[in-house]
Amino acid sequence: MPGYLVAGNWKMHGSIEFCQSMGADLLASDCPQVEILVCPPTLYIPQMTTIFEHSGIQVGGQNCHFEAQGAYTGEVSPLMLRDFGCSYVILGHSERRQYFAETSELVAKKTVAALQAGLKPIVCVGETEAQRAAQTTFDVIKAQVNLVLDDLSIEDLLNLVIAYEPVWAIGTGQTATPTQAQEVHAFIRELVAQRDANAAAMLQILYGGSVKPSNATELFQQQDINGGLIGGASLNAEDFITICRKASEMP
Ligand code: PGA
Repeated sequence: MPGYLVAGNWKMHGSIEFCQSMGADLLASDCPQVEILVCPPTLYIPQMTTIFEHSGIQVGGQNCHFEAQGAYTGEVSPLMLRDFGCSYVILGHSERRQYFAETSELVAKKTVAALQAGLKPIVCVGETEAQRAAQTTFDVIKAQVNLVLDDLSIEDLLNLVIAYEPVWAIGTGQTATPTQAQEVHAFIRELVAQRDANAAAMLQILYGGSVKPSNATELFQQQDINGGLIGGASLNAEDFITICRKASEMP
């Protein structure tokens, strides 16, 4: 059984002062048996890795380029994230797909690059409201997941994390029901099992989309949910720590 991972995606929020106070609060929290990850905006990564040094709390990026270096103004490479102590990078978040025209092909290239740099990619997949209404959720997820899996070796699969984030649930306060989430998570695990059964069994599949203290437990109780990718609630130390605690209480 994979362990629980709770990741905070701060998106484009934060300040030096916010990092200091959030860092101090998270350091004081006690959540045994849960992997905690914070993904601040890129500029704040060095500050957070310094604060969390030797604490076990990990730091990740929210995006990266697919090249190690080059003439790509404004971009950050996976090697640079690694250089500054990141262990994870979120890739293919629906906001990147929606506002920055990221395709699944691009996400697949970034995933390979992140793995080559020694980062664990958290690849986000999820259907829109219209796609769910049209009953194409499983087709959408299958296409998004398989495009990434096609480029990976079995060893790569052991370092991959997938986050199921229904687009209609992100930042809307509307959460997928535990049953809705579980059926997609089980489907994702099955897609990975078609490549390698052991990697599928070990795969951490996170749920994201309006996770809060009040719904975290029932989501984490689902068989194929191994943690959460938390947006809004990760900006509030008490809420985020409560969610981490709920994960640490899982049997
Ligand atoms: P939310 O965001 O928790 O605010 O819905 C989740 C995400 O976008 O990763």
